[in-house]
Amino acid sequence: MLRHFFKALASTAETAAPLIQTRFTASSSGSKLAGKVAIVTASTDGIGLAIAKRLCQDGAKVMISSRKQKNVDTVVQQLRGENLEVAGVVCHVAKKADRAKLIDETVKQFGGIDILVSNAAANPYYGALLNTPEEAWDKIFDTNVKATFMLCQEVVPHLEKRGGGNIVLVGSTAAYSPAGLIGAYSISKTALLGLTKALAPELANSNIRINCLAPGIIRTKFSQALTENDMASDVALQQIPMHRFGTTEECAGATSFLVSDDSSYMTGETIVVSGGMASRL
Ligand SMILES: NC(=O)c1ccc[n+]([C@@H]2O[C@H](COP(=O)([O-])OP(=O)(O)OC[C@H]3O[C@@H](n4cnc5c(N)ncnc54)[C@H](OP(=O)(O)O)[C@@H]3O)[C@@H](O)[C@H]2O)c1
Repeated sequence: MLRHFFKALASTAETAAPLIQTRFTASSSGSKLAGKVAIVTASTDGIGLAIAKRLCQDGAKVMISSRKQKNVDTVVQQLRGENLEVAGVVCHVAKKADRAKLIDETVKQFGGIDILVSNAAANPYYGALLNTPEEAWDKIFDTNVKATFMLCQEVVPHLEKRGGGNIVLVGSTAAYSPAGLIGAYSISKTALLGLTKALAPELANSNIRINCLAPGIIRTKFSQALTENDMASDVALQQIPMHRFGTTEECAGATSFLVSDDSSYMTGETIVVSGGMASRL
């Protein structure tokens, strides 16, 4: 009896192995977000771009944005070439006028807003936390925390007009275990865990859910210095039970879940996408 069980288990594991491998680049072509309109900030590269693309593939119309017009134009052209419904506008999230334009343009182009993914972040300083220059501290907190909060405040009335909606803040596992040399950035990400928790009950009254995505180490330009340095990446990989860095698509899959009805009873939570890295405060 036991022998049959283990034999069945072994053959299941054999057939599951290729499935597990293909999941690294999983994508979707569905309609679970049909009729929805999403804003994804910092969506011309890295995690933001993968999220924007995935939400489109799930049926949403997505407003692409980042600081540089050239980047916005390139991505809009690329995604339209894949028959995805996108528009684009320049938005440096720390600039109030840019945020207003992002929201106005989205409403003008797509008729309303259902989803906000706040993904932009800055980290201008590497070094000992105590030596962080004041200007670097201000830039980190203006971009990562204040702009994220302001964007929520500015977008919520539009979600309310649609009878509710979804917000995802992109945090980091550094929120839980401050990463060496990027202390102020890590603290700003811890603040986003608090922001998610604090806004959830208020937004629930408006049928709006807010959750946080906490990526571990994901291969992007932002993490290049770590992932493309043999010595640094060897050390980092030792902290990751799955022994590999994550992909932007893996962050996009979790975000798609968080903004869809698949997570309809979740708010104020954080999903960690980190291959099992330590993630508790
Ligand atoms: N990669 C990781 O390992 C990792 C781990 C944990 C958390 N995260 C978080 O994931 C998010 C995305 O990081 P990423 O790794 O995908 O970065 P990335 O690949 O370097 O992409 C950065 C994107 O942000 C845009 N951008 C930069 N500053 C901006 C601003 N002030 N306003 C609007 N757009 C801005 C850039 O375009 P322009 O140059 O045109 O503005 C670009 O599209 C960040 O919140 C980061 O903290 C990343």
